[in-house]
Amino acid sequence: MPEGLLDVQGLGIRFGGLDAVKDVDATIPAGQITAIIGPNGAGKSTFFNLISGFYVPTAGAIRFAGEDITRLKTHQVVSRGIARTFQTTTIYKELSVLDGVMIGHRVRTKAGLFDALLRTGREKHDEAESRAGAMRALERVGLTSQAGRLAGALTQEGQKRVGIAMALCSDPRLLLLDEPAAGMNPEETTNLMGLIRELVGGGLTIALVEHKMSLVMGLADRILVLHHGQKIAQGTPTEVSRDPAVIEAYLGSHAHGGQMGQGEQASTTTGADHA
Ligand SMILES: Nc1ncnc2c1ncn2[C@@H]1O[C@H](COP(=O)(O)OP(=O)(O)OP(=O)(O)O)[C@@H](O)[C@H]1O
Ligand SMILES: [Mg+2]
Repeated sequence: MPEGLLDVQGLGIRFGGLDAVKDVDATIPAGQITAIIGPNGAGKSTFFNLISGFYVPTAGAIRFAGEDITRLKTHQVVSRGIARTFQTTTIYKELSVLDGVMIGHRVRTKAGLFDALLRTGREKHDEAESRAGAMRALERVGLTSQAGRLAGALTQEGQKRVGIAMALCSDPRLLLLDEPAAGMNPEETTNLMGLIRELVGGGLTIALVEHKMSLVMGLADRILVLHHGQKIAQGTPTEVSRDPAVIEAYLGSHAHGGQMGQGEQASTTTGADHA
């Protein structure tokens, strides 16, 4: 496997006595869609929290575009070209879509909330630029016509698109999506898959965590499977769905069905993000 846009080696983090992620070697190739799957509590969101600088690993290394980013802070990671969305949608429902995207972007990219809220002269000067950037992001997710609406009035799919627009404001090379289709009906899920394909077609690299196997199997070029914090498989959808360790992990932990590749959700619960 050639060097990826992002490579992790021996990556791990321990919380008390629990190895939430342990000794993971993985590669996210440029220009592709990589899905990270695994049962509830497998360490998928934690893996994203490590890559995006929300957690500092207790072991291992993270390289992005040839640079060691293992110990960078969240805003530094964003500035290198990695952006993310969250498992729990965090949009500003009481604001217009455009204002919410602008503020959300600022809060995520500054060193602290105080920094973000402190409107220095320079920030005010930057406002027009920031507005234009937010409008470009809204255009990429197909929400131009909704820019003036209250974000809370959008559909579930619309709100997820707002979350993606916030992430796109920093013009990332790698976008991490944590359960982008959670709470969506089949039609909305299909629309979202179309958007993800479009973004990758435009040159973006995407890694996503998702329980909906129809989405994973329909979109992913490669799949990384985590179980109890460890990588149990990485390969193409076909390779992974035939892997005995993967089948065992899914059957073993989902007594009520949810075998991979059946087009249904492999899990019925979605816990809150721990970030
Ligand atoms: N900040 C934290 N402190 C303590 N334990 C944590 C923390 N973050 C995550 N964990 C634990 O690490 C494990 C992995 O959690 P994680 O949220 O990464 O799982 P997941 O694969 O995203 O699950 P789900 O599919 O339910 O979203 C869980 O046992 C969780 O309770
Ligand atoms: Mg999660």
